[in-house]
Amino acid sequence: MIDPKDSKLTNKAIMTNKKIVRFENLKKGFQEGDRVRHVLDGVSVGFEEGKFTALLGPSGSGKSTLLNLACGIEEPDGGDVYIKETAITQMTDHDRTLFRRDNIGFVFQFFNLIPTLTTLENIILPQELAGKRRRDIEPAAVDLLDKVGLADRRDTFPDRLSGGEQQRVAICRALAHDPWLVLADEPTGNLDSKTGVIVMDLLLQLTSEAGKTLIMATHSPQVTTLADRVFRVQGGTLVEDKSVIDSDTEQDEEHHLAEVLAP
Ligand SMILES: Nc1ncnc2c1ncn2[C@@H]1O[C@H](COP(=O)(O)OP(=O)(O)OP(=O)(O)O)[C@@H](O)[C@H]1O
Ligand SMILES: [Mg+2]
Repeated sequence: MIDPKDSKLTNKAIMTNKKIVRFENLKKGFQEGDRVRHVLDGVSVGFEEGKFTALLGPSGSGKSTLLNLACGIEEPDGGDVYIKETAITQMTDHDRTLFRRDNIGFVFQFFNLIPTLTTLENIILPQELAGKRRRDIEPAAVDLLDKVGLADRRDTFPDRLSGGEQQRVAICRALAHDPWLVLADEPTGNLDSKTGVIVMDLLLQLTSEAGKTLIMATHSPQVTTLADRVFRVQGGTLVEDKSVIDSDTEQDEEHHLAEVLAP
């Protein structure tokens, strides 16, 4: 298992400045009675490879909507999402599902584990559905479980696990196919602050510190001090917030999350 105390959240991922994920004039609204509620009103922004981008914004501002559009779970009313120069918004549903399977890992706020499957079965399910053989995918899943400190819980069902343990399993599921892009929607929003620190630390070690591109919606100003870039969802668009990053760079570059989040 990775000891959270040993982890240094240095975020020294390979940074190439290449905009590997791009939103172009993204619009999304939802029907409310006889009118449309415009949530995103022309979002154009790019995310660099290997960086950790935090999305802030009040409840209802559109953070989850943006992440859902980024991975193609939802379709925009207008505009496009480009991932590695491919407009996933122009793909068929089937192709988008395959693309997501190969490239993206998603961590949800509410874990979304299947109660009738064991921990290990939950982790490997997406790959089994993709036609992979269990014996080929199990070793990596077991290795991930070990990394998050749950090697001995592989045959346990989700309802026997604490919230933090369930989220650690959900992180393993999101990473089991080794995606280069990880989207996380308030991954610690449903955990107490102490458990949140442990889970966030593991998530960052396995994603941004491992060179993966991470886009995370969060309500935590402290977590954003660890991000390479911070955007606020504001008035239907994304506005970069440099104040968090600027004040951070004046401090020691190597932060430990537990220190940052300590009361
Ligand atoms: N499927 C839907 N049908 C109707 N309205 C929706 C739907 N999904 C989102 N909305 C509305 O879009 C707005 C943005 O929702 P979203 O979930 O993206 O916000 P959020 O920033 O993630 O909020 P929170 O911080 O509470 O998670 C909200 O007003 C919400 O009610
Ligand atoms: Mg949300």
